Amino acid sequence: MNFIMFTLLLLAVSVIAVSLMTIYWFGGMLIPLFAGGAPYVPTPDKKVELMIKLAQVQSSDKVMDLGSGDGRLLIASVQAGAKRAIGYEIHHGLAKLSRHNIRKYNLQDKIHVFNKSFWNADVSGASLVLLYQIPNAMEKLGNKLRHQLPKGARVVSNGFEFPDWEPTESNTKVFLYIV
Ligand SMILES: C[S@@+](CC[C@H](N)C(=O)[O-])C[C@H]1O[C@@H](n2cnc3c(N)ncnc32)[C@H](O)[C@@H]1O
Repeated sequence: MNFIMFTLLLLAVSVIAVSLMTIYWFGGMLIPLFAGGAPYVPTPDKKVELMIKLAQVQSSDKVMDLGSGDGRLLIASVQAGAKRAIGYEIHHGLAKLSRHNIRKYNLQDKIHVFNKSFWNADVSGASLVLLYQIPNAMEKLGNKLRHQLPKGARVVSNGFEFPDWEPTESNTKVFLYIV
């Protein structure tokens, strides 16, 4: 094989690899549209702080993030003192990225991420649920949470309210609910 052939082959392999990665990452972003949840938009740092503040995280808290993205809310809740945190994330690449981020902070003993839909998750063990979802998922999510969560559990939602549930407190579009 001469040099030109080798270069062309290398180029072709690189183009195929980049295309496959692009399909994996951006194609995965479409999955939430079919899974009844929000596309990936990370909560900005200031809003993460506000959510954690409103949640009043306690050392006994078992936290769940429904649609956990890159894991930032899980990490922040454990750093604020929560006992454990569990994430449900439908995008395989994001679930992997969040596990990588969790290892970076050496929190893998306290945080676990499931690569599955939160609609199939049993949330009855959570004392605190964190959310950043879309308006048309909120009614169904509110029903699920009120049905499954124990009395006294808190829910903090970024951006969107439950249509038929009065928040206990709210601050710049972050809402705290108590079951
Ligand atoms: C707006 S992002 C929020 C990410 C993260 N919680 C944050 O605050 O930075 C919504 C996330 O929910 C995920 N998602 C959407 N529908 C889902 C479903 N049915 N089950 C699990 N994850 C879902 C998306 O892949 C996306 O990462």
